[in-house]
Amino acid sequence: MRIVLVGPPGAGKGTQAVRLAEKLAVPHISTGDLFRANISRQTELGKLAKSYMDAGNLVPDEVTIAMAKDRMEQPDAVNGFLLDGFPRNVAQAEALDELLRTEQMTLDAVLDLEAPEDEVVKRIAGRRICRKDSSHVFHVAYNAPKQDGVCDICGGELYQRADDSEDTVRTRLEVYHTQTEPIIDYYKSQGLVRTISAMGPVDEVTERALEALKSEQ
Ligand code: AP5
Ligand code: ZN
Repeated sequence: MRIVLVGPPGAGKGTQAVRLAEKLAVPHISTGDLFRANISRQTELGKLAKSYMDAGNLVPDEVTIAMAKDRMEQPDAVNGFLLDGFPRNVAQAEALDELLRTEQMTLDAVLDLEAPEDEVVKRIAGRRICRKDSSHVFHVAYNAPKQDGVCDICGGELYQRADDSEDTVRTRLEVYHTQTEPIIDYYKSQGLVRTISAMGPVDEVTERALEALKSEQ
């Protein structure tokens, strides 16, 4: 299956993507995680991306599309993938369509996670992620690690993302409304969008997502 996940920052895309990717046996491709891995390795791409990410803005399309394309062309992604955080504007969605067309592939669904703004703000404020792997995500109240500040999965140190400060979150939400939400209409015109509520316990949201991906529309 080839799936795109969309939803506001903090809706739970990363949390759900890890579970869905496992259930559907496809790789989880997160452009946010790829950028954060570049930042921790201090690559040129990481240095460029950091300035945009810390301000809550999108990293320029040219480098983002090249990075996503490179990842989608890895052998583990030939039979499907779950994209988390890409595409994030209409230009990226068009580039993805073009890439899929040249490979004679199509998307199966776009899963739209809906959550009200006050909830995503609470989720982001309490989020802690792992230094070793930013797809290891916790929340101080809703999904607390067994030991304070330590990742349950790999033992890495947990920290708060630089872009999770109140000011930056406001910018990220605005960027989501102005630049990312238009891709939902873009994909609606292709009949691909399945919208679900991201409210409630993590397991329930996963069930809802699997059900939505199963149903013919
Ligand atoms: P990215 O890393 O993609 O961030 P985001 O889209 O802002 O999404 P988040 O990671 O904030 O939230 P999420 O929805 O994954 O929620 P999570 O599962 O963590 O992008 C970061 C930056 O990178 C961008 O701002 C941009 O600069 C750059 N970038 C990335 N892709 C790009 C692109 N394509 N083009 C240009 N730039 C790009 O959950 C949040 C919290 O809630 C966690 O603590 C979690 O434990 C908790 N939680 C999750 N589900 C539940 C639940 N059901 N109940 C209670 N708590 C829950
Ligand atoms: Zn970890």
